Amino acid sequence: MPTKAFGRRYLDVLASVYIYNEFRGYTSLDRVLEAVRARCPDETGFIAEVTKHRADERKHYLMFKRWFERQGHMPLKVDRGVGHIDRFIQWVFRCTIEELDTGEIVASSAEFEKLCRVIMLTEQRGYRQVEVLLKNRTIQADPVMRKIFEIVHRDEPEHYLPYQRWLERQGRATAKWNERAADWCIHKVLMLIKLPALFLDAGCERLAVWPDWQAPATLAETDIAALPIAA
Ligand SMILES: [Fe+2]
Ligand SMILES: [Fe+2]
Repeated sequence: MPTKAFGRRYLDVLASVYIYNEFRGYTSLDRVLEAVRARCPDETGFIAEVTKHRADERKHYLMFKRWFERQGHMPLKVDRGVGHIDRFIQWVFRCTIEELDTGEIVASSAEFEKLCRVIMLTEQRGYRQVEVLLKNRTIQADPVMRKIFEIVHRDEPEHYLPYQRWLERQGRATAKWNERAADWCIHKVLMLIKLPALFLDAGCERLAVWPDWQAPATLAETDIAALPIAA
Protein backbone atom coordinates (compact mmCIF):
# COMPACT_ATOMS: atom_id res chain seq x y z
CA MET A 1 0.00 0.00 0.00
CA PRO A 2 1.60 3.32 -1.03
CA THR A 3 2.27 5.86 1.73
CA LYS A 4 0.37 9.14 1.74
CA ALA A 5 3.46 11.11 0.69
CA PHE A 6 4.11 8.68 -2.18
CA GLY A 7 0.49 8.98 -3.31
CA ARG A 8 0.53 12.78 -3.16
CA ARG A 9 3.72 12.95 -5.19
CA TYR A 10 2.39 10.42 -7.70
CA LEU A 11 -0.77 12.48 -8.30
CA ASP A 12 1.22 15.71 -8.42
CA VAL A 13 3.54 14.33 -11.12
CA LEU A 14 0.73 12.68 -13.08
CA ALA A 15 -1.49 15.78 -13.04
CA SER A 16 1.48 17.99 -14.03
CA VAL A 17 2.13 15.79 -17.06
CA TYR A 18 -1.56 15.68 -17.96
CA ILE A 19 -2.14 19.43 -17.66
CA TYR A 20 0.85 19.99 -19.97
CA ASN A 21 -0.52 17.53 -22.53
CA GLU A 22 -4.10 18.84 -22.35
CA PHE A 23 -2.91 22.42 -22.86
CA ARG A 24 -0.63 21.36 -25.69
CA GLY A 25 -3.53 19.38 -27.14
CA TYR A 26 -6.14 22.11 -27.38
CA THR A 27 -3.73 24.83 -28.49
CA SER A 28 -2.22 22.57 -31.20
CA LEU A 29 -5.71 21.65 -32.38
CA ASP A 30 -6.18 25.27 -33.43
CA ARG A 31 -3.61 24.57 -36.16
CA VAL A 32 -5.24 21.25 -37.05
CA LEU A 33 -8.63 22.92 -37.35
CA GLU A 34 -7.11 25.50 -39.64
CA ALA A 35 -5.71 22.70 -41.83
CA VAL A 36 -8.99 20.72 -41.83
CA ARG A 37 -11.03 23.79 -42.81
CA ALA A 38 -8.64 24.53 -45.68
CA ARG A 39 -8.25 20.93 -46.85
CA CYS A 40 -11.87 19.75 -46.50
CA PRO A 41 -14.07 22.90 -46.54
CA ASP A 42 -17.21 20.92 -47.49
CA GLU A 43 -16.85 18.28 -44.78
CA THR A 44 -18.83 20.15 -42.15
CA GLY A 45 -19.30 17.02 -40.02
CA PHE A 46 -15.56 16.43 -39.81
CA ILE A 47 -14.92 20.12 -39.02
CA ALA A 48 -17.53 19.95 -36.24
CA GLU A 49 -15.88 16.82 -34.79
CA VAL A 50 -12.44 18.47 -34.70
CA THR A 51 -13.99 21.59 -33.12
CA LYS A 52 -15.56 19.38 -30.43
CA HIS A 53 -12.22 17.64 -29.93
CA ARG A 54 -10.55 20.98 -29.24
CA ALA A 55 -13.31 22.01 -26.81
CA ASP A 56 -12.94 18.70 -24.93
CA GLU A 57 -9.17 19.05 -24.53
CA ARG A 58 -9.64 22.57 -23.19
CA LYS A 59 -12.24 21.22 -20.74
CA HIS A 60 -9.74 18.55 -19.62
CA TYR A 61 -7.12 21.24 -19.12
CA LEU A 62 -9.51 23.22 -16.93
CA MET A 63 -10.36 20.14 -14.83
CA PHE A 64 -6.69 19.54 -14.01
CA LYS A 65 -6.20 23.24 -13.37
CA ARG A 66 -9.06 23.19 -10.87
CA TRP A 67 -7.58 20.08 -9.22
CA PHE A 68 -4.32 21.99 -8.64
CA GLU A 69 -6.22 25.02 -7.33
CA ARG A 70 -7.86 22.74 -4.77
CA GLN A 71 -4.43 21.41 -3.78
CA GLY A 72 -3.26 24.99 -3.21
CA HIS A 73 -0.20 24.78 -5.43
CA MET A 74 0.84 25.13 -9.06
CA PRO A 75 1.79 22.21 -11.36
CA LEU A 76 5.40 21.06 -11.61
CA LYS A 77 7.35 22.78 -14.35
CA VAL A 78 7.75 20.21 -17.13
CA ASP A 79 9.07 20.63 -20.64
CA ARG A 80 7.98 19.19 -23.95
CA GLY A 81 9.95 16.04 -23.21
CA VAL A 82 6.80 14.81 -21.42
CA GLY A 83 4.55 15.70 -24.35
CA HIS A 84 3.44 12.62 -26.29
CA ILE A 85 2.23 14.73 -29.23
CA ASP A 86 5.46 16.83 -29.18
CA ARG A 87 7.61 13.72 -29.45
CA PHE A 88 5.36 12.13 -32.05
CA ILE A 89 5.34 15.23 -34.31
CA GLN A 90 9.11 15.52 -33.92
CA TRP A 91 9.57 11.84 -34.85
CA VAL A 92 7.21 11.78 -37.85
CA PHE A 93 7.57 15.33 -39.25
CA ARG A 94 11.12 16.04 -38.01
CA CYS A 95 10.13 19.40 -36.52
CA THR A 96 8.41 20.88 -33.47
CA ILE A 97 4.67 21.58 -33.39
CA GLU A 98 5.41 25.29 -33.82
CA GLU A 99 7.51 24.57 -36.90
CA LEU A 100 4.79 22.49 -38.61
CA ASP A 101 4.01 24.12 -41.93
CA THR A 102 0.21 24.19 -42.08
CA GLY A 103 0.30 25.34 -45.72
CA GLU A 104 2.43 22.36 -46.72
CA ILE A 105 0.13 19.97 -44.85
CA VAL A 106 -2.95 21.42 -46.53
CA ALA A 107 -1.31 21.19 -49.97
CA SER A 108 -0.28 17.53 -49.65
CA SER A 109 -2.65 14.57 -49.23
CA ALA A 110 0.17 12.45 -47.84
CA GLU A 111 1.12 15.03 -45.20
CA PHE A 112 -2.48 15.68 -44.18
CA GLU A 113 -3.15 11.95 -43.83
CA LYS A 114 0.03 11.59 -41.77
CA LEU A 115 -1.17 14.31 -39.41
CA CYS A 116 -4.54 12.56 -39.03
CA ARG A 117 -2.77 9.28 -38.22
CA VAL A 118 -0.53 10.93 -35.61
CA ILE A 119 -3.53 12.46 -33.84
CA MET A 120 -5.50 9.20 -34.04
CA LEU A 121 -2.67 7.12 -32.58
CA THR A 122 -1.99 9.69 -29.83
CA GLU A 123 -5.63 9.66 -28.77
CA GLN A 124 -5.90 5.86 -28.92
CA ARG A 125 -2.84 5.69 -26.68
CA GLY A 126 -4.45 8.21 -24.32
CA TYR A 127 -7.62 6.13 -24.12
CA ARG A 128 -5.75 2.93 -23.26
CA GLN A 129 -3.61 4.75 -20.69
CA VAL A 130 -6.65 6.17 -18.90
CA GLU A 131 -8.11 2.64 -18.68
CA VAL A 132 -4.96 1.62 -16.81
CA LEU A 133 -5.06 4.71 -14.57
CA LEU A 134 -8.69 4.16 -13.59
CA LYS A 135 -7.64 0.86 -11.97
CA ASN A 136 -4.88 2.56 -9.97
CA ARG A 137 -5.59 2.62 -6.21
CA THR A 138 -3.99 6.03 -5.64
CA ILE A 139 -6.30 7.54 -8.26
CA GLN A 140 -9.31 5.67 -6.92
CA ALA A 141 -8.57 7.13 -3.48
CA ASP A 142 -8.84 10.73 -4.79
CA PRO A 143 -12.53 11.21 -5.75
CA VAL A 144 -11.96 14.35 -7.83
CA MET A 145 -9.02 12.87 -9.74
CA ARG A 146 -10.98 9.66 -10.34
CA LYS A 147 -13.93 11.66 -11.69
CA ILE A 148 -11.62 13.67 -13.97
CA PHE A 149 -10.22 10.46 -15.48
CA GLU A 150 -13.71 9.00 -15.87
CA ILE A 151 -14.67 12.07 -17.93
CA VAL A 152 -11.45 11.88 -19.98
CA HIS A 153 -12.14 8.17 -20.61
CA ARG A 154 -15.71 8.90 -21.73
CA ASP A 155 -14.56 11.67 -24.11
CA GLU A 156 -11.55 9.91 -25.65
CA PRO A 157 -13.23 7.73 -28.34
CA GLU A 158 -14.64 10.90 -29.94
CA HIS A 159 -11.08 12.13 -30.21
CA TYR A 160 -9.66 9.35 -32.38
CA LEU A 161 -12.73 8.09 -34.26
CA PRO A 162 -13.20 11.24 -36.43
CA TYR A 163 -9.65 10.92 -37.83
CA GLN A 164 -9.91 7.14 -38.14
CA ARG A 165 -13.23 7.40 -40.01
CA TRP A 166 -11.88 10.17 -42.24
CA LEU A 167 -8.90 7.99 -43.21
CA GLU A 168 -11.22 5.05 -43.82
CA ARG A 169 -13.44 7.22 -46.06
CA GLN A 170 -10.36 8.03 -48.16
CA GLY A 171 -9.59 4.30 -48.34
CA ARG A 172 -6.28 4.85 -46.55
CA ALA A 173 -4.53 2.56 -44.12
CA THR A 174 -5.43 3.84 -40.65
CA ALA A 175 -1.85 3.57 -39.43
CA LYS A 176 1.52 2.47 -40.72
CA TRP A 177 3.64 -0.03 -38.84
CA ASN A 178 6.49 2.47 -38.31
CA GLU A 179 4.07 5.05 -36.86
CA ARG A 180 2.65 2.45 -34.47
CA ALA A 181 6.21 1.55 -33.48
CA ALA A 182 7.03 5.22 -32.87
CA ASP A 183 3.94 5.59 -30.68
CA TRP A 184 4.94 2.51 -28.68
CA CYS A 185 8.53 3.73 -28.18
CA ILE A 186 7.42 7.22 -27.14
CA HIS A 187 4.99 5.76 -24.62
CA LYS A 188 7.74 3.57 -23.11
CA VAL A 189 10.18 6.50 -22.85
CA LEU A 190 7.53 8.58 -21.07
CA MET A 191 6.43 5.85 -18.65
CA LEU A 192 9.80 4.26 -17.90
CA ILE A 193 12.17 7.23 -18.04
CA LYS A 194 10.50 10.66 -18.00
CA LEU A 195 7.85 10.05 -15.33
CA PRO A 196 10.10 8.25 -12.81
CA ALA A 197 12.76 10.96 -13.30
CA LEU A 198 10.20 13.68 -12.59
CA PHE A 199 8.91 11.76 -9.57
CA LEU A 200 12.41 11.59 -8.10
CA ASP A 201 13.37 15.18 -8.96
CA ALA A 202 12.79 16.73 -5.53
CA GLY A 203 14.14 20.08 -6.72
CA CYS A 204 11.74 20.38 -9.65
CA GLU A 205 10.29 23.90 -9.73
CA ARG A 206 6.64 24.74 -10.03
CA LEU A 207 5.08 26.91 -12.71
CA ALA A 208 4.83 30.58 -11.76
CA VAL A 209 1.85 31.19 -14.08
CA TRP A 210 -0.81 28.95 -15.61
CA PRO A 211 -0.10 27.73 -19.14
CA ASP A 212 -3.17 29.62 -20.43
CA TRP A 213 -2.20 32.94 -18.84
CA GLN A 214 -2.02 34.71 -22.20
CA ALA A 215 -5.48 33.58 -23.33
CA PRO A 216 -7.36 32.23 -20.30
CA ALA A 217 -9.51 29.20 -21.09
CA THR A 218 -13.06 29.41 -19.79
CA LEU A 219 -16.14 27.22 -19.85
CA ALA A 220 -19.80 28.16 -19.97
CA GLU A 221 -21.52 28.03 -16.55
CA THR A 222 -23.74 25.18 -17.77
CA ASP A 223 -20.66 23.09 -18.66
CA ILE A 224 -18.93 23.81 -15.37
CA ALA A 225 -21.93 22.63 -13.33
CA ALA A 226 -21.54 19.13 -14.77
CA LEU A 227 -17.85 18.77 -13.91
CA PRO A 228 -15.98 17.79 -10.75
CA ILE A 229 -14.33 21.21 -10.86
CA ALA A 230 -17.56 23.02 -9.99
CA ALA A 231 -17.09 23.40 -6.26
FE1 LIG B 1 -7.57 15.19 -23.07
FE1 LIG C 1 -8.09 13.41 -26.02
